[in-house]
Amino acid sequence: MGSTERDLAADLARIVHAAADEVGSGRGSELIEKVTGHLGAPLPEVVVVTRNWPMWEHANIQRGVEAYLAEHGKAVDWFGIAGGQRTHEDLIGMLAIARTQGMYELGSVDYTTTAIGPDDATEAVQLGLVGTSAPGGEPVLVAIRGATPQWGLEQCRLEVLSTSRVTATQVRDRVERLMAEHDLLRGQVLAFGTSEHRGNELLTFLPRPTLTGEEVVLPDGVLAAIERHTVGIAAHGERLLAAGQHLKRGLLLHGPPGTGKTHTVRYLMSRLPTTTVVILTGAAMRFVGKAAELARRLQPSVVVLEDVDLIAQDRSYGPMVQPLLFTLLDAMDGVGGDADVTFLLTTNRAGELEKALADRPGRVDLAVEIPLPDAAGREALLRLYSRGLKLTADLGPIIEATEGVTASFAKELLRRASLRALALRPDDDVVVGDEELSTALREMQDAHSALTRSLLGSSAAQ
Ligand SMILES: Nc1ncnc2c1ncn2[C@@H]1O[C@H](COP(=O)(O)OP(=O)(O)OP(=O)(O)O)[C@@H](O)[C@H]1O
Ligand SMILES: [Mg+2]
Repeated sequence: MGSTERDLAADLARIVHAAADEVGSGRGSELIEKVTGHLGAPLPEVVVVTRNWPMWEHANIQRGVEAYLAEHGKAVDWFGIAGGQRTHEDLIGMLAIARTQGMYELGSVDYTTTAIGPDDATEAVQLGLVGTSAPGGEPVLVAIRGATPQWGLEQCRLEVLSTSRVTATQVRDRVERLMAEHDLLRGQVLAFGTSEHRGNELLTFLPRPTLTGEEVVLPDGVLAAIERHTVGIAAHGERLLAAGQHLKRGLLLHGPPGTGKTHTVRYLMSRLPTTTVVILTGAAMRFVGKAAELARRLQPSVVVLEDVDLIAQDRSYGPMVQPLLFTLLDAMDGVGGDADVTFLLTTNRAGELEKALADRPGRVDLAVEIPLPDAAGREALLRLYSRGLKLTADLGPIIEATEGVTASFAKELLRRASLRALALRPDDDVVVGDEELSTALREMQDAHSALTRSLLGSSAAQ
């Protein structure tokens, strides 16, 4: 992943700085004293062990270091580094420059806030060091460095300073184990993409939907089959594994737009309240490798791949290979069979996926069609979306006249009818009768055919 090259580059930078140290004036500073004083050795004898993490792990690093300090105590309170071009240097480099040029000084800790949930954020050290001891008692310094993508530092960092590489590595490993134990991403609903609120952070927390089964209108048995394959397998995970069965599953929901594929996914998220969910849509699909990695780490988990047809066209559509589709399928395959990970794919063009999926069997083991609602479905939908109002209309004619519409059409129809009721009787309860419903329906059908006409090219213009 290029991290070896980066590590190598960092090592080289360290050597260069160390060489500069040797020829430098050795002018001391409070900062250097703080470091060397705690470690009990001069700067050239200090080694640093680093681990880079994606930006969204910042809070986890903070949490891991705090847990480590709780175990091993804090010998030197958090301190920071002031002055200079802090963003361009690595830690040892900064210390070396502090020593040779006095450009960096002892400063206060930089803090930043970072999200730990859809409505929660926490303070995390953006740049700071703290003195503690290794499991064997040797003095070490632990540093946290937040990502500053605007300055080219794309990842956040955990650094351990010690006079021994072995000791530093031990401490880093322990912090990492504690990070895994306290993982803040576990059980969250996470979406890959870019967030306008948080710069170019790539992972955002979403609130978990709360939907009940009554709110999902599907033909008899469809939701039950979907639940068996997702919630059912999760509920019997251990017994299934013991019986030699695999847990990983892939479910494809396909059907026309607006029939409830996303709606069903949202329902499943509510049904699995402690399961980690990782959502990928559109351009974020390119993060599927990272998503699969997170899903494996945070199981039980669900990876939602919305509208996969956007990236997964049949190869016969052109000579161009669709590398993203194969990356996606490989990522699905890369997760071990015994992992409690569900891949939930949605599409309204299953045909385009068919060949690719058939060529690589085992990725999707259940495909469920989410069809347009039949008459019973349309009635159920009309009743569902009129729960908050008074429905006096005779539904029979409306159900007949809405043959072929989607579930979301039925939902919108009731909103329009309610609006009409409010326009007629602004001060009364919302009562939807025959007049309101049929007017709203006519309006929507007219709008629909007008749009269809203009999309197909107006015959009047010819
Ligand atoms: N089967 C359904 N039962 C109840 N409500 C539904 C159903 N289908 C759709 N709706 C309502 O319509 C809205 C839009 O549907 P949804 O986003 O699930 O469609 P979709 O199948 O994912 O379409 P697309 O293929 O365009 O992504 C939902 O948020 C929900 O309010
Ligand atoms: Mg959808």
